[in-house]
Amino acid sequence: MSRIAYVNGRYVPLRHAAVNVEDRGYQFSDGVYEVCEVRGGRLVDERRHMERLARSLSELRIAMPCTPAALSMILRETVRRNRVRWGIVYLQITRGVARRDHAFPAPGTAPSLVVTARNLDLASAENLAAQGVAVITVPDNRWERVDIKSIALLPNVLAKQAAREQGAREAWFVDKSGHITEGSSSNAWIVTADGKLVTRHADRGILKGITRGVVAETAASQGLKLEERSFTLAEAYAAREAFITSASQIVLPVITIDGQAVGNGTPGPIAKALRNDFHRHAEFA
Ligand code: PDD
Repeated sequence: MSRIAYVNGRYVPLRHAAVNVEDRGYQFSDGVYEVCEVRGGRLVDERRHMERLARSLSELRIAMPCTPAALSMILRETVRRNRVRWGIVYLQITRGVARRDHAFPAPGTAPSLVVTARNLDLASAENLAAQGVAVITVPDNRWERVDIKSIALLPNVLAKQAAREQGAREAWFVDKSGHITEGSSSNAWIVTADGKLVTRHADRGILKGITRGVVAETAASQGLKLEERSFTLAEAYAAREAFITSASQIVLPVITIDGQAVGNGTPGPIAKALRNDFHRHAEFA
């Protein structure tokens, strides 16, 4: 089956889907994106993803390309046309097409909208979660507004590649004070020796993950204590458990950090329980 993309008003075969070379996303990474999990063909936490999208757009002063209702229909239709059962839907909005000039284009320039969707392999994802993954750490060299879900991801790309080259799944960014901020495409969590969950507070220094928010609710319902605060690399090495969260990975146990075993080096019970319970707290549309 050939995949279909939505590009600026049309559904087209993915291999023919293209944007103008003067699209500001292509020229300047001048745009934002969202990724939602699709489960049983339904969008997970669409409302929260759309709220974050609206915030990212407003922080960058990019207009919504259509009404929220129209966008919701486009997301659904792209999922349907690609027959996604379990996977992701990706949407990207840029400041549109204009002759290359760093400053904003003329008012009224239409923002560009692209939506793609694809199936992921649920069995291999479950397998990965059962095994646990390795993470490495890298210096956090990103800009100061990583709370905006911008498509400008070069430091994240380089961090993920460093992880891949070292046989790891994810790279955790460490800021100048020695604290872990988040992963290159996920939020970072630890469980302390006394069983408290810790994930960094969400200010401008991390992306406030939608999965992170739902995991916090899941944890509360399980009676777990959560501290939203910075934690050091040393704390992470000494943690009982560690895991990462993102829309496509849900809760993924971390078993080594920089080659050192976390706890006994196998996925921990808290991460497993949060993963198992997650979708009881997520919203389905
Ligand atoms: N990444 N932090 C960063 C830097 C991210 O890129 C992501 C998501 C998250 C987790 O956010 P959420 O729980 O809302 O997915 C945290 C997406 C999935 C991606 O880039 O593919």
